[in-house]
Amino acid sequence: MSILICSSEPVPTSVAKALPGDKSISHRVLLIAAATDGESRLRGINLCGAVFPLIEALRQLGATVDIDDGEMRVGTIDRNLRTAPVLNLGPSSAAARLLLGLLVGLGVEAVIDGDETLRPRPVDWVVEPLRGLGAELEYLRAEGQLPVRIGRSRLREGIAHLTVGSAQARSAVLLAAWAAGVAVDVRQAIHSRDHTQRLLCSLGCRLDVRSNGVSLTPAAPPSFPFYEVPLDPSAVAYPVAAHLFRGMVEPLRIDGVCLNPTRTGFFETLRDCGIAVSYSGIVDRFGEPVGSLTVEGDWDADSLEVDNPDRFHAMIDEIPLAAAVATRLPGLSRFGGAEELIFKESNRIESTAAMLRAFGAEVATAADGFTVRGGVELTASRAPSFGDHRIAMTAAALGTSLAGRTVVEQGECTETSFPHFAETMRGYGFDVRADVSGGAA
Ligand code: S3P
Repeated sequence: MSILICSSEPVPTSVAKALPGDKSISHRVLLIAAATDGESRLRGINLCGAVFPLIEALRQLGATVDIDDGEMRVGTIDRNLRTAPVLNLGPSSAAARLLLGLLVGLGVEAVIDGDETLRPRPVDWVVEPLRGLGAELEYLRAEGQLPVRIGRSRLREGIAHLTVGSAQARSAVLLAAWAAGVAVDVRQAIHSRDHTQRLLCSLGCRLDVRSNGVSLTPAAPPSFPFYEVPLDPSAVAYPVAAHLFRGMVEPLRIDGVCLNPTRTGFFETLRDCGIAVSYSGIVDRFGEPVGSLTVEGDWDADSLEVDNPDRFHAMIDEIPLAAAVATRLPGLSRFGGAEELIFKESNRIESTAAMLRAFGAEVATAADGFTVRGGVELTASRAPSFGDHRIAMTAAALGTSLAGRTVVEQGECTETSFPHFAETMRGYGFDVRADVSGGAA
C-alpha cells in the first residue's frame, strides 16, 4: 500500500505532463477494434488499471494486442474458441459490462468475472435487458452480480428497458445489438455519456436519439483501421481543480481534451461558480469534439445545486471534486439525485463525505446525495480514499492548496484511471508524491 503526500509547496513545472487518454473511449475502441476484421491501430489508449484487464481479456479471447511506442495494434476475437474462457476484468465495471454485451452479440461463450471490489457491484442493469432480447446469461454466485456465464446466445431485435441512467448499461446493449446485427430500441430517460453512439455512427450505423432513449439500426461491421483517443476530461479535471483551489491567477490551458458535452459537466459547474471556462479550437475527431480547455479566475457564487440528471451524468465521476469545490463557496451546496454513486468503486456518497470531513468540511449525507456547508476553513490532514481513485485524486488536489502536509491513504488506487498521477500533477507544479513505504518512516 502506498500513500500520496501533498502540500501547497510550489514545484517547478516540467514538460512531462502526461495526461491520460479518455478511459471510456479507450474501453469502447478496444472492444470495437477486437470485434471488427483486420488490424486496428489505436493511439492514446489510457493504459490504466481499469483498461489493462480488458486488454488481457481480449488476448484470452484470441485477439492479438501489441503495445508499441504509444500505438496499439489490435486483432480480432476468435469466435470459435474450444473452451469458454474465464475473463477477470479486475476492478473495471465498464470493461466487464461492455465486454459482456459485446460477447453476447458475437455469440461467444465465456465467464465474466471481476475482483473482490467489482463482484458486489450490480451487473443486472446489463444482464436483465439482454435476457429480454434473448441472451443466455447465468449468475454463478449471487443474483445480480458477477461472475456471469454467457451461453451461446442468439440475440433478437426488440426493446430494452433500462432502469438506471448508466451509460455502461446502454453501451452494453448497443454493442450487443451491433455485434449481433439486430436493431434495438433502448428506452432510457436519462442522457449520459454517448461515446458508443458516436462510434457506432462513425461505423455507418443509424442511431435515432429521442428524449426517452435511442434506437440503433446496425450496419455490417466494417474494418476499424485507426483511432486516436483524446485526453480524458475526468482526468484533466484534477490539475484544473488544483489550479483553482490554489487561486492561481494565470489561465491554465490544456489542449487535445475530449469536450463531448455529455462529459463536460464539471467544467460547466465551474462556470456556474464564476470561473471563466472556454473551449477553443474544437475539431471533430472520429465523431468526438476535441479541443483546448482554458480556465481562469476566481469563485464568484454562493453555492452549488447539482440535481439535474443530465448535468449529474455529465459529471458523474467528478462529483467528489465538485463537492470539494463546494467547500470553497460561502453557502450551503446540495447534490441530489445521486443514488447511482452508491454503486461506484466505493459508496461515493459516504466516501466523499468522509474524505472531506477529514479536512474539517461540514458534509451531511442523505440517501440520494449530500450537502456541503461552505465557508469552513479546511486544514491539511490524513484523508481516507477507501481505495477509490476519484476520492484519492480529489483529496490530493485539495491537499495541494492547504498549508502543511496532507496524506492520502491507499494512493496506489489512482492508477485505476490515471497512470502516473503524482508525476503528472508535479509536472503542472503541484506537490504530490507517491510514497510506497506507506508513510511508515
Ligand atoms: C462509464 C460510465 C460511468 C462512469 C464510469 C465509466 C463508461 O458509469 O462512472 O467511470 O465508460 O461508460 P455508469 O455508466 O455506470 O454511470
